Amino acid sequence: MSTRSLLPTHQRNSSGIIILGPPSSRSILRMKEKYFFFGVIVSFMFFCFIGMIYLPDLKSTQLYNRYIKPADSLGPNLLGLVPPIESHGHNSNNEDNYELAVLPRPRARFDDERRLRKKIEEHFNISQEAVIPIPNLNPKIRSHINLDVSQSSRITNATIDLPDGADPDPDIAKKRDFIKNMTIISWDNYKKYAWGENELRPVSKRGHSSSIFGTSKLGATIVDGMDTLWIMGLKDRFNDGRIWIQENLTLDGVRTEMSVFETIIRFVGGLLTCYAFTKDEMFLRKSVEIAEKMLPAFDTPTGLPYSLIKPDTGSSKNYIWASQSSSILAEVGTLYLEFSFLTSATGDPKYLDKVEKIRSLLDSNSKPYDGLYPLYINPKSGKFGSQHFSVGALGDSFYEYLIKTWLFSNKKDVVALRMYNEAVDAIDKHLVQRTQSGLVYLADMRYGRLEHKMGHLTCFAPGMFSLGAKSSAHDQKRADHFMQLAADIANTCHESYTRTATKIGPETFWFSGDLEAQSGKRTDRYYILRPDVIEGWFYMWRLTKDPKYRQWAWDAAQAIEKSCLAPDGTGYSGITDVDSAKPKYDDVQQSFWLAETLKYLYLIFSNDELISFDQWVFNTEGHPLPIRNLNPAFPETVPQTN
Ligand SMILES: *[C@@H]1O[C@H](CO)[C@@H](O)[C@H](O)[C@H]1NC(C)=O
Ligand SMILES: *[C@@H]1O[C@H](CO)[C@@H](O)[C@H](O)[C@H]1NC(C)=O
Ligand SMILES: *[C@@H]1O[C@H](CO)[C@@H](O)[C@H](O)[C@H]1NC(C)=O
Ligand SMILES: *[C@@H]1O[C@H](CO)[C@@H](O)[C@H](O)[C@H]1NC(C)=O
Repeated sequence: MSTRSLLPTHQRNSSGIIILGPPSSRSILRMKEKYFFFGVIVSFMFFCFIGMIYLPDLKSTQLYNRYIKPADSLGPNLLGLVPPIESHGHNSNNEDNYELAVLPRPRARFDDERRLRKKIEEHFNISQEAVIPIPNLNPKIRSHINLDVSQSSRITNATIDLPDGADPDPDIAKKRDFIKNMTIISWDNYKKYAWGENELRPVSKRGHSSSIFGTSKLGATIVDGMDTLWIMGLKDRFNDGRIWIQENLTLDGVRTEMSVFETIIRFVGGLLTCYAFTKDEMFLRKSVEIAEKMLPAFDTPTGLPYSLIKPDTGSSKNYIWASQSSSILAEVGTLYLEFSFLTSATGDPKYLDKVEKIRSLLDSNSKPYDGLYPLYINPKSGKFGSQHFSVGALGDSFYEYLIKTWLFSNKKDVVALRMYNEAVDAIDKHLVQRTQSGLVYLADMRYGRLEHKMGHLTCFAPGMFSLGAKSSAHDQKRADHFMQLAADIANTCHESYTRTATKIGPETFWFSGDLEAQSGKRTDRYYILRPDVIEGWFYMWRLTKDPKYRQWAWDAAQAIEKSCLAPDGTGYSGITDVDSAKPKYDDVQQSFWLAETLKYLYLIFSNDELISFDQWVFNTEGHPLPIRNLNPAFPETVPQTN
């Protein structure tokens, strides 16, 4: 491995000269000092990086892949050379369903409830007349909700019966069956070798924990995989997981640091979907318990949460590599669905308050490139950090949640819609690029300079653009434009798959020099069972019905079966080099493999009734949440309007 490939990207760009922030900052340090500091930092990073490479536990974690690797902003920020940017500057007509929806009444006290109602009215701009008075709380139902967590709960008749969703075409049905079998293999081997651990090491057949979960055994695969089992009708396995969650899932006494964002999208999100599917109060209680443990991270002057928290003490902090220990855009900006759903389900307004505050702050901060948001934001000052922009790692799901928040509110949340439109117009203007051969991609930008690469993570974008285009977020002309953009990017992501030896796409692919949708360095070439490319095709299949997306998804599933199935068939593993004919395993079956990749594959080969876009919005971890007023699974705490 060359030194070059060990060093963060910014050095390559600078060939020895650090890319500085705005010119005014250059004079701050004299040349000599600058190089001295630079040397210190480089050595520091070098050792960190070596550590990363040789610590298998870290290497294969999402933390590493999502954050450490793209943290090439480290140098200039640590040097303090980059000053922060100044921030000047349809109602359910069915009576039964309605009953169902209001059954789990909120625990909140009355004045809380009034406040909540007011908030929701303001938030969704519901006029006073339209609101039906809140009926009295039924004390019986209240006590039912306050059941002790330890008390046994069962799946009641209130369960939402999902349609089976089988496609009449036997070929498609067989493919779907194949995906279901892959899921059974993944779950059953996890159960056999790693039950209760966070993840399975499918090759060495033991448990694994990514550092985003700390070192405690929190059953991440169970919590993340449950709703996929339910969707596939694997209810016995679901029930095994339910009992484990009831008996053993707790953050009490967890002393190691956990990622606030990952915990909320995976644990809180996953449990909320189980609650929506089954109406089993236990899932709601557990998700509230976990959310509560995350709340101390939000106790900052601005309300922007820190990235990491120790659940037992609540002590929180940010990653040291993040620009001036800032919080990260995709982390602070991807909590809205989960927290607003929590408020609706519990009647407690504080969750919605927190995400509202974050969003207002992001919205009101001045942004140098129209609707593009810098990747770092300081939780103390509320100011944006270095001028790095990306629709991939560190930025991705913030943009995704703008359109999804609007849809989740049954299109009432006009603030989310405006922010989405501003954002995608800016992405379109500043980041969309086209190669000579016609491949369209989304570049990153730092200090006005484009970086011609895309991450596997960025391939969620076709889903976002097509969802916006097909849900009347824009006028027809813009909608057609964004639909085309979605199709073009989905195609580019497909090219990143077809151009490798394994027919699985790399983590990072470039559009420069000889490279076109191909990896460069060896460290670009891993695949850790990520969903994003398939997720993009899932949306494109649903929204265009072009059969090529089903074909692409099937080809990818076959390629994964060939290269990622562990030697003894004991689960699926990431691989370290998609360009190798016989790639090595990283020996981790990520929890998002069950939560997202397998779920999206299964849904591609199902018909559209199963988790219909008219009723559900997927959180960024693939957990579908019911849409207010359109889905009887939505736990209304205020009566429906219209
Ligand atoms: C709220 O609704 C009223 C009447 O429907 C409208 O005039 C007003 O502009 C809306 N406010 C917002 C913020 O959308
Ligand atoms: C569920 O419904 C079935 C048939 O409708 C009924 O026999 C059963 O008692 C119900 N169970 C509960 C727990 O209400
Ligand atoms: C799925 O597994 C079952 C049981 O092992 C088997 O009978 C079936 O043929 C498999 N289906 C496919 C499509 O591989
Ligand atoms: C919960 O954990 C205990 C102790 O590790 C274990 O004995 C028990 O079987 C677990 N419960 C389930 C449902 O797996």
